[in-house]
Amino acid sequence: MDGRDLVRSVRAVGSGGAAQGVRMVRAAWRRRRADATGLPRRGVERARVPGLVQGVEPGPGGGVVRFARSELRIMVAVNGGVFWGWDGAGPEPSYALAGSGPEPDPRAVLEPDKDGGWRVVAERVTVVVSRHGAIEVQTPGGVTLRRDLPPRWWEPAEGGGARWMQRSEVTPDARFFGLGGRASGPRLRDGTYRLWNTDPGRPFGPGDDPLYITMPVHLVVADAATHLVFHDTSWDGTVTLREGEEGAGSGHDRAGTCEIRMDGGPLRCWVMVGTPARVLLVWASLTGAAALPPAWALGYQHARWGFGGEQEVRRIVAGYQERGLRLDAVHLDIDHYDGHRVFTVDQDAFPKLPLLAEELRRDGIRLVSIVDPAVKAEPGDAVYDGGRAVDAFVRDATGRVVEGVVWPGEAVYPDFTDARVRRWWGGLYEERLGQGFAGFWHDMNEPVSFTAFGENTLPRSSRHVLEGRGGDHREAHNVYALCMARAAYEGLRELAPDERPFLFSRSGWAGMQRYGGTWSGDVATGWPGLRASLSLVMGLGLCGVPYSGPDVGGFDGSPSPELYLRWFQLASYLPLFRTHASLRAGRREPWEFGGDVLEHARAALAERHRLLPYFVTLAHLARRTGAPYVRPLWWGEPDDRLLRDCEDAFLLGDGLLVAPVLDPGAERRSVPLPRGRWYDTATEKAYEGPGRVLVDAPLARIPVLARAGAVLPVRGRGGGLELEAWAPARGRSGEGLVVPAMGDGWDEPEIERYVTRWKGRRVVVRREGDEGRSEPARPVRIRGLGQG
Ligand code: NOJ
Repeated sequence: MDGRDLVRSVRAVGSGGAAQGVRMVRAAWRRRRADATGLPRRGVERARVPGLVQGVEPGPGGGVVRFARSELRIMVAVNGGVFWGWDGAGPEPSYALAGSGPEPDPRAVLEPDKDGGWRVVAERVTVVVSRHGAIEVQTPGGVTLRRDLPPRWWEPAEGGGARWMQRSEVTPDARFFGLGGRASGPRLRDGTYRLWNTDPGRPFGPGDDPLYITMPVHLVVADAATHLVFHDTSWDGTVTLREGEEGAGSGHDRAGTCEIRMDGGPLRCWVMVGTPARVLLVWASLTGAAALPPAWALGYQHARWGFGGEQEVRRIVAGYQERGLRLDAVHLDIDHYDGHRVFTVDQDAFPKLPLLAEELRRDGIRLVSIVDPAVKAEPGDAVYDGGRAVDAFVRDATGRVVEGVVWPGEAVYPDFTDARVRRWWGGLYEERLGQGFAGFWHDMNEPVSFTAFGENTLPRSSRHVLEGRGGDHREAHNVYALCMARAAYEGLRELAPDERPFLFSRSGWAGMQRYGGTWSGDVATGWPGLRASLSLVMGLGLCGVPYSGPDVGGFDGSPSPELYLRWFQLASYLPLFRTHASLRAGRREPWEFGGDVLEHARAALAERHRLLPYFVTLAHLARRTGAPYVRPLWWGEPDDRLLRDCEDAFLLGDGLLVAPVLDPGAERRSVPLPRGRWYDTATEKAYEGPGRVLVDAPLARIPVLARAGAVLPVRGRGGGLELEAWAPARGRSGEGLVVPAMGDGWDEPEIERYVTRWKGRRVVVRREGDEGRSEPARPVRIRGLGQG
């Protein structure tokens, strides 16, 4: 037990009483015992490398290259992604892939290369395999983007799964991004990052790693091209990154390096090459389109751990309404359950929940429910009894149901890697829909079991069905929450087929966007936490999870009014805009921080509401193209070094550049600009990029700049959809896409494309395909004209 474990158990004892502390000590011992007997011993290990090439067997999209001690399967897919797997590994089975993965590209062929090596030439990439098993990924122009050295395996001499290590080199100018949700990014600095979904057990800041969502997905941005690499293995592992250095003058270049070590699982990966937009498009086509949140989930949402009862919910909602603050959803936390038992309601505190939900819905406010995976281990509990009847709970190597400890006390865990269990669990959301809930917030699903010492999750030896293959928690842990999300999503689709499910999950893995989004977990209250919350949203977006956002104000303690406001202002431009905090933290309603904060928060809310059609458009585009709503400044110009290193501003879609204030006392801030003209949306002052400019950032607002020529769909005064067009620079044109909202069902609205240009002394906006018309059918407001 280290100091941190001690703090954790003391804290849990404080919140749950001495009995909970005793349970945690017992759980820790149980865990230790289960693993001591249930995990295979590694014993003596033998190292292996592929050896020399022996021959090849061409196949669809590439083929198999045989080495003395392994074989490598390479396949270029029709979507442009390249797959390779060692030791005969193919793309399936995979928890990340949507469906059965893409077809091979019949045009890609395996052919001899120099020095006894082989290569596969495809449209966008060439993969060269050396006779020792090194693999180079090259651009069509022949520039090497990545060089994987021959991998190395360590196998137990007595047999069993291998550990492996893969070392790669990238260009000296390359920057790394991704690996899931990382607090100290989005640019991943030199260091070792763990691949094991983890609840840190206390509010986290930029130094804490790993967190709730880890993914073996990283993006490498370099002058020559951007590429994304996905090692499709869910086991525990580490990624050690080291940026390279370009030699100045006569100095030598030093390559960047990436070393992946995995405790098990297949050594196989996917690589995508191109522009950032192209790479994310291929990634989305591989792992699935992002679920589309209903429009209300793009508004403002308020959560609280400890509302205490219906009257308090009503009082808070009235507080918003009386102050003219638009609220779209209220989230009920774990305390609304009866004794913290999932899929129940504390009838004393919430005697008429469906009525409350109905009342709120009439005011345009939805109710969202937290859902934890752990089920109280108590005969008589309907979920427990139902789960036992279908043999739903995870067992240990001896066949006993594994018990952990969470909020309700001793608890058991559904095995979501079993399709049967997913179906049972999905059906349980009927109770939630009956209570009037419209959305779901999955929590504690790393999964967490509080223990007094050691890891706060299930024993690694716990058995899982893994879709019939069978295996243990070492393989199932990282995909546990992903499978829980799938269970809920599929259940909800059956229970309410006309509505798009809304769920967001604390933990997850590659492909989780198919079912919903996430939020940033328990971020520590403080300026570093504010910065971390932006890092998480950007990093996750680059891993294909476009919908996320932080707990505004941070999870613990009480933010200063200034910090709260800056957090609120930032989140008003993020996909998930939600205030929330811990049971013991100060309040997070905007009126708790004084009159000035209230006034400025009101302005931020009004602007969010005005921009709602833009958010809806971005949600549709994320689904169709894989492009996140929140994009790093280098999205369109990855070779601009200034932009590549900017971590404190972002593009919201193509049209807006948001420069949040992340430091106390700042009233101005410097912003690196991508190419072209940009208007400060508050003053309409124009700036020319590329370059760095200083802009005003008074307490009343954070700087938001609009790209010249952009067309943004906004909500007009009367509530209808209007177009806000920003004048292009003279002689230039611009464009914008609009996807009009169509309710919360499954209709697929058409994308409208608008073009802006100068016509004499006027700026005109035309809808593509509408050339005959003099004006578009939607009202247009041109801005930025003062700058001619
Ligand atoms: C941990 C979650 O991260 C937090 O958001 C929630 O309030 C608590 N669990 C209680 O359910």
